[in-house]
Parts: sequence; structure tokens; C-alpha cells
Amino acid sequence: MKTAARFAIPLLVIVAVTAWAMTPVVDHLMTGWFRSDVEMRSRLIFQSVQETVLTHMAEGRTRGLDSLFRRIAMDQRVLAVGLCGPRGRLVHASRAWPARVACPRGDPAGVVFTTAFDRGDPLLAATFPLVVKGRPAGYLVILNDLRFIAQRSARFDLYLGIGLALLGLAFAAVTILVARVTLRQWVRSMKDSLVTRTPLPGEQVAPEIAPLVRDLRKMMRDVNFLRGAADSIRIDWTAETLRRAVADELPGAEIMVLSNREPYIHNYQDGEVVMQRPASGLVTALEPIMRACGGVWIAHGSGSADHELVDAADHLKVPPDRPAYTLRRVWLSDEEQDGYYYGYANEGLWPLCHIAYVRPIFRATDWEFYVEVNRKFADAVVAEARTGDPLVLVQDYHFALAPRMIREHLPQATIITFWHIPWPNSEIFGICPHREEILAGLLGSSIIGFHTRFHCNNFLDTADRYLECQVDREHSTVSIGGTPALVRPYPISIEWPPSALVGQLPVEECRKTVRDRYHLPDTMRLAVGVERFDYTKGIPDRFHAVAALLESHPEWIGRFVLLQVAAPTRSRLPAYTALQTETAELAEQVNRRFGTEDWKPVILVPHHHEPHQVFELFRAADVAVVTSLHDGMNLVAKEFVAARDDEQGVLILSTFVGASRELLEALIVNPYDARAMGEALHTALMMPADLQRDRMMLMRESVRENNIYYWAGRMLFDAARMRKRSRIEERIVHAGMSKIK
Ligand code: G6P
Repeated sequence: MKTAARFAIPLLVIVAVTAWAMTPVVDHLMTGWFRSDVEMRSRLIFQSVQETVLTHMAEGRTRGLDSLFRRIAMDQRVLAVGLCGPRGRLVHASRAWPARVACPRGDPAGVVFTTAFDRGDPLLAATFPLVVKGRPAGYLVILNDLRFIAQRSARFDLYLGIGLALLGLAFAAVTILVARVTLRQWVRSMKDSLVTRTPLPGEQVAPEIAPLVRDLRKMMRDVNFLRGAADSIRIDWTAETLRRAVADELPGAEIMVLSNREPYIHNYQDGEVVMQRPASGLVTALEPIMRACGGVWIAHGSGSADHELVDAADHLKVPPDRPAYTLRRVWLSDEEQDGYYYGYANEGLWPLCHIAYVRPIFRATDWEFYVEVNRKFADAVVAEARTGDPLVLVQDYHFALAPRMIREHLPQATIITFWHIPWPNSEIFGICPHREEILAGLLGSSIIGFHTRFHCNNFLDTADRYLECQVDREHSTVSIGGTPALVRPYPISIEWPPSALVGQLPVEECRKTVRDRYHLPDTMRLAVGVERFDYTKGIPDRFHAVAALLESHPEWIGRFVLLQVAAPTRSRLPAYTALQTETAELAEQVNRRFGTEDWKPVILVPHHHEPHQVFELFRAADVAVVTSLHDGMNLVAKEFVAARDDEQGVLILSTFVGASRELLEALIVNPYDARAMGEALHTALMMPADLQRDRMMLMRESVRENNIYYWAGRMLFDAARMRKRSRIEERIVHAGMSKIK
């Protein structure tokens, strides 16, 4: 409407000025035309009556002249007719001859046209000479009424004005229409060539927009450069690099993390409040990023003393010793925890996504809680957001629905969802009764990250199979209307250098401390396993491997111990209690079978260990056994490598964990093959120190380079690129639309 007025008003002004300027010209022309018309008619009248007038004059027939003049005056344009003497005296006239009008001056040589006025009304006097026998006998004067010219001119001026106004409006309408169509085409062609796809060779851009396209292409190249920069700057990613990169590439961006597990848990222990760091790869990875970048971390307040420490807004500044970001605790009732966390997330999605042959359970009531709790957390994100376009990092399978829920309230938000566990193939995912809802929920994200390309491909296949969507395998995107979600692998990692290494004693002292703690002689070779007490971790299989080692290499009897630390987790669930019981029994069995009075090959420690305790164990170990049946990444493997600054120790790693794609110098094993794992244990125990060093150095190099800051940097660069792209896109559309609105 605004633009229509912008076109129409100037046009109407131009039309009005033109009409105003044209009026005198038009009047002059029209007066000229009508006068010559009247003059011509006067001549015709004179020619037809000349003879009769002369006859009546010669015969002195005044009556005849009366009747003739009356007839002539019947003509619409003729006001009166008069006969003037040779000296200009009115001799005879029709009745309407105005009293104030005298005979005009005639010319014996020919007709004279003059203008006279009667009470201001214009008259045209046509004065024709009358000649009898070669001598002037007087003049016949025909008085024409010219008022009609003024009337006609006024009417013509009105029509001209209306006509020009209509023409102006029609012109404005056509201009607006053409402008709209042209601008739409420009916008489309700009979007096509800049945003959606690269122009084909030889493809022409409209010359009028070529300079604009050139500028925008340059901007897009700068944006694309970011991706290259993140991928190619592969060394020296530190907390400081990340902090600077975020400040440069995402200036003013508000960073929010959403996860189920909180980074700091406060529990009552013997009447005291004790702080605990949870055993969670997710927390291990995300916490250093939040320490570096600041922001708000929204998570379930699950500790028994959690309520004690928060302020009125349920906020707590953490880490407690050096506050860097805000933890926002969200409270869940027991029913909500049962349905959403224990039920849907951990009895449904967890076994669904891990190939560990535990049957997933999908209860209708659990799903209802899952939806409700996702909404609760999404609402918390919306409530915490200070801007309309925060950068929200949604974590894991607990919050598959939250991305879309957040998007509904914060359409401009950049939502990066990271799925920390494997994504199964489409056939397996098809088991989930809510597969469409889960997929659609996740596709509310701007970016969906997995650890491996394999899991990305599984996700693309699953979306393709169960949703009405567009899967672009070349760009790895999925769209269900609106902006496509980018699906990319981002192998997660740990901080480097690890803070758990700070204050550690030299390796030799760690060995001694740990051996003393478990009453092991100095010469005892030690393998260590540290994980949550989860059926995906393959702990019983590891004990079978110990049995296989001792069977085929009895020389290790009395000289080797596997110290297995297992942090109790999700213990309310039958699958977990069954595993914990089975594992304890199996340890007993192996110990009974091979153990002696003062030696047991398996030490099972079912207790939570804080990060620095885990690092101490790793530093004391000869071998680390990380043999999960299935794992997205498994950060324990990377922690072992990080803990060994002495460049010694051997890592035995399952082929079914994401880390096996990066830590190629580990001894890679199939955890289902106990005998082969037993052999791997033997190989590890026999490995010479220099070979251990070569392998460990390469693995440390890989973890150092691909650390958690690099992981976050790549994701955040992709997010920055997306934000810049969508802002350019918005600007193009906005510029186009504001021109044609
Ligand atoms: C895995 C999941 C995390 C989870 C962690 C600990 O690493 O991917 O999301 O936090 O296990 O499990 P818990 O149930 O104790 O949070």
C-alpha cells in the first residue's frame, strides 16, 4: 500500500501540473478552431443570402429583409443579423441585435471579422461588404454568439483532467505490477544464485542486478571461508581460541545449553552438602566450553541438596571456585522422572539406539511424560533467552522434541542439537512408535550433529523413510518445509590440556598409590576399565576376556589384575540392576576359577569416581580396556590418552565405538570375541615401551588436535555461517519485499 502511494502520488501531481499547464494552450487552440468554424459558417450564410439581401435593398423591401434576417438568426450560433450603411450606421437589424453593439468597421475590399462584447459575452462580428454596380452599398453584419466556446472549453478541460488522472492511475498500476514482477524475479534469481545453489557455468544474472550480486557473492564467499577456516585450522584449539572465535564470529550471541544431566550435582551426604561431577561424557565435553564462552546451562536439578544452592530464579553461578556461567536448574517430579528419564529416554530410546540386544520399551504414559518434560525444558529455554536469536545447544536423546518446541517460540534462534549416542539404521528406528514425532522434533534444529558420518547417513535414511521431507544428500540437509536442517558429523572430544591432570602426581607415584590402595605388589600388571555401570559398556565381556587370557596365557596368573570401576547409573531400571548383579557374579566366578589366596584377577569397584580420581587410575595403569558393545564416541578412551603424559600405556578399544575411527593406534577389538580380546590383553601386556610410546604419541597428537574446542569451534562456525547466510537471505528478501510492498 505504501509503495502504491509512493508511485501514485507523484504521478498524480505530474498529471495535475501537466493538465494545469496545458489548459491555456488547449483553450487557445479550441478557441481558434471554433472561431474559424464560425467564420466559415458566416461566409456560407453570406454567400447564400447575398443576392436576396441586395434585391431587398434595391427594392426597399424592409419586410423581406426582416423575414430573411429572422431565418438566418434561427441558426444556433447566430445571435443577430444587421444591415449597416456605407458610413457604419445600423440601418436594419434582426430583433436580438444588442442595443450596445454598434456597426463594426467594414472594409469594402472584403470580409472583416472582429470581436465584440455584449455584457461581457464574446461575439464574433462578420462584416461583409455589399456592392451594387461597383459601388459600396453598405455591409451585412452577422453577429455570432461565442459563449459556446467558453462552455465547451470548460467541459473539455474537465474531461482532459479526468482522462489524464485515469491515465496516470493506470500508468501507476502498470508500473507497480511490472516492478513487483521484476523485483520478485530479481530476488528469486539472487536467492537462487547466492543462497540456494551455485549458478551454473554460463548462467546469466540480469545486468541490472549484476553489481549487487557481485557484492553479495563476495559476502557469501567470506561466510563460506569460515567453514574452511574451522576445518583447516586444526591445531592449537584452546579455550582462548574458542572464546575469541565466538566473539569474532558470533558477536553478542547468547549461548544456552540444554541437557538433562547437570554439570554440578549437590547431594546430602551424612548431613553435609557434597558437590559431585557426574559420570557423563556429555558433561565432560560441554563443561569446558561453557567455562570458556559463558552463558546459561539449563539442566535437571537432580541432586538431593540442589534446591539449597540456587537463588530465587533457580540460578547458580558455576564452577563454584571460579564462576564462569550460570546453571539453571529445572525441577522434575518423581512421576516426570520415571516417565521421561527412566522410562522413555532410558528404557526406550537408549536401548533403541545402542545395539546391545536389550529390548526397548515404549510405554504410552512414558511418551506423555517425555512430551511434557520436553515442553517444560523448552519453556525454560524461552524464559531464559534475553534475545530473539540465541544460540541453543540442545543435548542428546532426552530432548528430541525440544528443538521444534523452542523454534515455535524463538523462530530466529540457531539451534544446534547434538545426539551423543549412535543413530541406528532406519529399520531399527522404525520400531519406535513415535518415530515421526521424534524426527520432526529434531528437524526443528538448525544443525543436527552426530559423532560419525555413518550415524548421519542412518539419520538421513530414517528421515527419508518415515517423513514427508526433502533429503539433500549432497549438502547433507533435511527439510520439512522452511529452512533445511544441516546434518553433519562432529566427533566429540575432551578438553586439552585436561583440567583433571592439574595437580596429578608423577606416574610412578600414581602407580604406587593405586597399587597400595588395592594391596597389589609393585610388579603387578594393571589393566583398568572405568565407566558407568551400563549394559552398553560390555563389562561382563571384558571379564570373559580376562578368563580367556588366563586360560591361554597362564603365565599371567598372579601377575595381572583388571581393576574395573563402574559408576552406578540408572539403577532403578531392571536392565541395569540385572547387569549389575550379573557382572558382580561373573567377577566372582572368574576370581573363584583363577584366583588364589592373595590374588584375584578381577577387582570390581562399583563406585562413582571424580575426574581427578579417574585420571589417577589411568596414570597407574599398564592397559586401559574400553570395550563397549556400542557407543557414540566414548570419551573414556580419550581421557586415558590425555592422562598419559608419560607416553606409556596401551589402549584396547572396541571397534564399535566412535573413538575407534580416530584412535587408530589402539588395539582395536571386537568385544563379542572374548578369545581375541584375551589375546589383545596379552599383546598389550607384552608391548615394549618404545612401541607404546610411538602409539601413545600419535594418539595424544590426535586428541590434542581434535579436542573439545575444535569440536565446538566447528559447530559454532557452521552456526555462524548459517546465521550470516540467513541474515543475508533475510536482507535480500526484506530489501526486495520492502520495495514492492
Ligand atoms: C551418556 C549420555 C548422556 C548422559 C550420560 C550419563 O553419555 O549420552 O546424555 O548424561 O550417558 O547418563 P545419565 O543417565 O547418568 O545422565
